[in-house]
Amino acid sequence: MTVTREKHPFYSFCNKTLEEIRSQGRYRQFTPLARNASQYPIYQLSKEGLQPSPEEIVVWSANDYLGMGIEPAVIEAATQALKQYGAGAGGTRNIAGTNPLHGQLEAELASLHHKEAGLLFVSGYVSNQASLMTILNSMPGWISFSDRQNHASMIAGLKGAKKANCVVFEHNDLNDLEAKLAAASPEAPKLIAFESVYSMDGDISDIKAICALARKYGALTYLDEVHAVGLYGQHGGGVSEREGVADEVDIIEGTLAKGFGAHGGYVTASREIIDYLRSAASGFIFTTSLPPAIVAAALQSVRMVKKDHWRREKLFERVETFREKLEQAGVPYMKTESHIVPIMIGDAERCKEISRRLLSEFGLYATPINYPTVPRGSERLRLTPNPFHTDEMMDDMVKALKTLFSDVKIQSNSEKVIENV
Ligand SMILES: Cc1ncc(COP(=O)(O)O)c(C=O)c1O
Repeated sequence: MTVTREKHPFYSFCNKTLEEIRSQGRYRQFTPLARNASQYPIYQLSKEGLQPSPEEIVVWSANDYLGMGIEPAVIEAATQALKQYGAGAGGTRNIAGTNPLHGQLEAELASLHHKEAGLLFVSGYVSNQASLMTILNSMPGWISFSDRQNHASMIAGLKGAKKANCVVFEHNDLNDLEAKLAAASPEAPKLIAFESVYSMDGDISDIKAICALARKYGALTYLDEVHAVGLYGQHGGGVSEREGVADEVDIIEGTLAKGFGAHGGYVTASREIIDYLRSAASGFIFTTSLPPAIVAAALQSVRMVKKDHWRREKLFERVETFREKLEQAGVPYMKTESHIVPIMIGDAERCKEISRRLLSEFGLYATPINYPTVPRGSERLRLTPNPFHTDEMMDDMVKALKTLFSDVKIQSNSEKVIENV
């Protein structure tokens, strides 16, 4: 006998919501691009891709900022570990998933950030979400102070901590932060959560000043250095290393997936904080650990990035050269104090259209960044030059942008260089 069943209302909810997202020009479509490890930043567009695009695409939006993911010694380390230990980790860290490499990488990361200990997570997202939620669900009465532009993974941890109150302060606004700290109960345990490099606007926080406020009001500091690790400081310890303030921050969080070109996330802090998170964070305890091959790749990468300052110099030389070329050609871009080069468009449809035409007509890929990642009206292309972008590739991108910006159907709202510093 066939049983007929009313369709659950969630099905029609999904269809209706997707329709709304499409009508607002926010529907996300994947571009099937396969990186070519011997030709980074050239990728192959898959056959089902957006024809008639050229098959070889120069990618301008990857977060493998230093190209460590294609570094032969990193690939070799992963290959060796894969052969030696197999594909997966085989369990959580407490069950059968702690390989000697996990401990070595944690020690390397702890020393990178001048901390006593480190703890690996399966991604940067999980490290933020799990660590913040665990801390804020620990003692009673926690109040967290969160920068308005904090990443979704931090917000997930801050808001997911049901026992804590979350106060949002205006982006990089020390006066607002201080006013909010001063208004809070002096007895309440407090935590300030912020980033060093904000990935969409490419601006940088004043870590020293935030730590000073934290000391004044007795708050713990939690710093996300995801877009800075590997890139800033003499050893790639991030902006906190560059500014000489790593010791002043209680907890430094980072990723192995961007500047280090591998995968995974981590936190570093004092021995007792790390041991507490290791013992209490659900997002650490109840998931299979990072595969040894990935850990081996990350370990090799961190060690190389620590000693090879020339990689950072090369990156920033490329970023500066690209900015000069944009400037000379009169292409509007946001002048940031970091390695990130946002090209402001200010409209979701236009942003998508420029990105689509870059790909289909010029063989260039730059991700359109739309709401909710950035506020409506500030849609942009987010470009991240890396050490492997040649002058010729830069000239091609600048020429293509110039052509598309002068096209009447795709006119940018921003007409001049926007100062963001
Ligand atoms: C500021 C910030 N923190 C954390 C993450 C998450 O890192 P991961 O990609 O390693 O999960 C991201 C990801 O883009 C990020 O931008």
